[in-house]
This record gives sequence, C-alpha cells and structure tokens, in this order.
Amino acid sequence: MLPKKIILDCDPGHDDAIALLLAHGNPDIELLAVTTVVGNQLLEKVTHNALAVARIANIHSVPFAAGCHRPLVREIKTAPDIHGETGLDGPILPEPTMKLDPRHAVDLIIDVIMENPPKTVTLVPTAGLTNIAMAARKAPQIVERVKEVVLMGGGYHKGNRSAVGEFNIVIDPEAAHIVFNEKWPLTMVGLDLTHQAQATPDIIEAISQIKTRPAQFVLDALQFYGDRYREHQGFGYPPVHDPCAVAYVIDPAVMTTQKVPVDIELTGTLTTGMTVADFRYPPPEDCHTQVAVKLDHAKFWQLVIDALKNIGETTY
Ligand code: BDR
Ligand code: CA
Repeated sequence: MLPKKIILDCDPGHDDAIALLLAHGNPDIELLAVTTVVGNQLLEKVTHNALAVARIANIHSVPFAAGCHRPLVREIKTAPDIHGETGLDGPILPEPTMKLDPRHAVDLIIDVIMENPPKTVTLVPTAGLTNIAMAARKAPQIVERVKEVVLMGGGYHKGNRSAVGEFNIVIDPEAAHIVFNEKWPLTMVGLDLTHQAQATPDIIEAISQIKTRPAQFVLDALQFYGDRYREHQGFGYPPVHDPCAVAYVIDPAVMTTQKVPVDIELTGTLTTGMTVADFRYPPPEDCHTQVAVKLDHAKFWQLVIDALKNIGETTY
C-alpha cells in the first residue's frame, strides 16, 4: 500500500510535537509539509519549536513554513497554563538548523495540494484552523482536491477552554466555521476521543525503555505537560490529543467514528466555539462530517512507540 500523504498544520505544543514524531516515524505516512499557526503560543515560538523538533527527530527533507500570526477575527489567546511560556516548556530544545520554506504556510498548503494528484493529500490540522480556512478561501479549488481533513479539535460532549468549547476551535471559531462548512470529508477527533489517549504509567515505562534522544524528549515533554494537566485540569494522566489525528490517518481502526452533522457556534453567550453535533436523526445522505468516539488505547500507543523505535537514535 502506498503511504498516505499528509500536511501537518500545528502549533507545537507538547502533543503537536509527538504528532510530528508519529507522522515522521510511521512508514505508512508520507509527510509532505509541516505548517505552523499561532495557537499554544505566538507564531514565532511555535515555529521555532517545530524546527527544533525536526532537529531532534532528524527531519530534513520536509518543507516547514510559518503561517498566520493571529486568528481571523478575534484577539490572540495562547495556552501558557498547559504549554508554558515557550509553548514547549520542559525539555531542553536544540537550536534549529533547518531553514523555513520562504512561502507563507497558506501558500505552501495550496501548492502541495495542487502539485499532488487529486484526492491523495490529507490535511491534519492540530491547532486553530486559521491557515486551513485562509487556504480554502484563497484557493477554493483545494476543497475538491484534498482527500480529507482529519483534525484535532472540538468535542460533542464537553470543552476544555469553556464548558463546551475546545481550545483549537475557541481560539478561532470563524476559521473553524469555514473549515467545518466546506464540503470536504472531515473527521473531528475531539476531546471525547483524545481524553481517552492518556499517557498512563505503563506507557511512560514503555517509552523509557527505548533509550534514544527522541524518546527522552517525549518523556521530558510528557513530564511537564502531565504536571500542568494535573495542576490545571485535574487529570491523573495527561491526554495526548494531537497524535490521535495522525493515528487515525495511519489506521482508522484505531478508533470508532460516527457520521453526524457538525457546525460551529459563533454567537453564543456561553457557547461560542462549541462544535454542535446534531445526533437527533440518522445523518443525511450528504453528511460530510464524522466524529471520533472510542479509542483503542493500546493500539494507539503502540503506533507512537513503534514510530519512536523507527526514528531510532539521532545526534544533534
Ligand atoms: C488542543 O489544544 C492545544 O493546547 C493542544 O496542542 C491540542 O491541539 C487540545 O485542546
Ligand atoms: Ca495543538
């Protein structure tokens, strides 16, 4: 089987960094581009972190580009409570050596989709949807051309930045509205699913057996991130959101999904940024959205562990 081509649009971010390692280390994924967007921290910081993670994992031949520095309409909201002042506090990061692609992320996304055959490129956003919405508006022909969008964001049950709002949607709800309303097939890997992807002690133990620099980076990242999730959100073990979206592209059997129409609340007093899933009826024929429901925890973490083993030892 040919590897699945993806563009990872991210804001590293501890869990984004692990998503990048999973995409790079899994043989069934061809990583075509990595793009960054303001989110967990300011654009310069998350872009620096993405390039530093590229060095940790020995990623050389993939273009990285920086994208939007603020949401479409709203003020910037970052997440220092979970990801720290750098956006990737905890591990000691090497200085990046890779140069950024000179293109804006939105242009890189469009170019990569248009250079590849129709229906071969999957978009994997693991951050606010600003870049993806801008790409859809700038080059509407990409909507027909992408294979699917598999994003981490939202939740049909509860939120994390408000009672019903998840961070990636809440920070740029107008962008999310654009992305959810375009007619491409879209899988929402939301909190309902990612809260099942906790890094439990057995997982930490398995990663610590790998004994490579990339594995040690993941352990250090999970230490900081786990402490913050315990302190600020009352989790025993941290939910590792973003790699779940990559895992679904690798092997859809890693989770169950349900087709359901989903739209984004833009004007609620308490609910702005809510991903409103309408479960009342069987989904209509033309329903193009589905939500992730149940994770196979062991299968998911095995993919992450195998990817780290495949990456092996690196020097920097
Ligand atoms: C999402 O928000 C970010 O802080 C994480 O990187 C993840 O993409 C979880 O709500
Ligand atoms: Ca993220």
